Amino acid sequence: MKLVPGPASMELAMKVSSILGLKLTELEHKVFPDGESYFRYAESVKDEEVVIFQGTHPPQDKHIVQLCLLSSGAKDLGAKKVTAVIPYLAYAKQDKRFKEGEVVSIDAVLSILRQSGVDKILTVNVHAPWVIGRSPIPIENVDAIGALATHIAQMCLERPIILAPGKKGEEMCTVAANVLGAEYSTIKTKRDVNTGAVEISLEGVSVEDRDVVVIDDMISTGGTMVKSVRALRSAGARRIVVGCVHAIMVDKADEKILSSGAEAIVATDTVPNKYAFVSVAGLLAERLLRS
Ligand code: R5P
Repeated sequence: MKLVPGPASMELAMKVSSILGLKLTELEHKVFPDGESYFRYAESVKDEEVVIFQGTHPPQDKHIVQLCLLSSGAKDLGAKKVTAVIPYLAYAKQDKRFKEGEVVSIDAVLSILRQSGVDKILTVNVHAPWVIGRSPIPIENVDAIGALATHIAQMCLERPIILAPGKKGEEMCTVAANVLGAEYSTIKTKRDVNTGAVEISLEGVSVEDRDVVVIDDMISTGGTMVKSVRALRSAGARRIVVGCVHAIMVDKADEKILSSGAEAIVATDTVPNKYAFVSVAGLLAERLLRS
């Protein structure tokens, strides 16, 4: 197995290579003055199973093109199989045609990756897990919510209640609540398809004088989390800890969340970020060993 560190996920590739005791494949990478990426495999990948680590967090389009170059290049050089480890899989928010004429971006991205020679995707908490069934590439989806909850369990929260927003809320809270031995409930959300603005509701949730953990698969603009934290504060919550797998954090979303009343943010390292107290390297290494 050849582990290839794509520019977007070098650190994670290094962690996985050290867990597996496999050295990283030598890869030459430079960017031309006009911004185009150049790669050279500095060792043979012929007849090898190549595992390319390349997240597709911002800048998404650049990271996707780099992944296509690496995958297509590996196949062209005779690689037997290409597995793309994409810790954060971009474009999964546009998982259907919300309005007439829209491009279903995730389907387009998966099709481009397939055409670039990707045989398998290993990812973490894909935003729209329902796309797995229709993907032209087999997708293995690792769940990092348990690992996040294990870290949060060390934060000495008193009888916390676990909350999570949106459609996947119930599943996320169940996993976290099991680890923390806590109660859970969901936060109802409604997103405007035109503006992207989200409305949240704490209906049926009682948090007065309770420590609260709010879990989500991702924080992008922070809109959902800021509104949730503010509502929880108004409802009398005590300590509020925010946990997310993918900390995209557009436009200082983290600062907005902390200043709205959250005590801490705990994230994983699927996306390089300063709240990555939990690594998914072990989970990924385990899956790679099994495949
Ligand atoms: C929604 O389905 C997700 O679980 C997140 O709540 C959402 O994607 C977060 O986005 P933002 O940070 O922009 O509100």
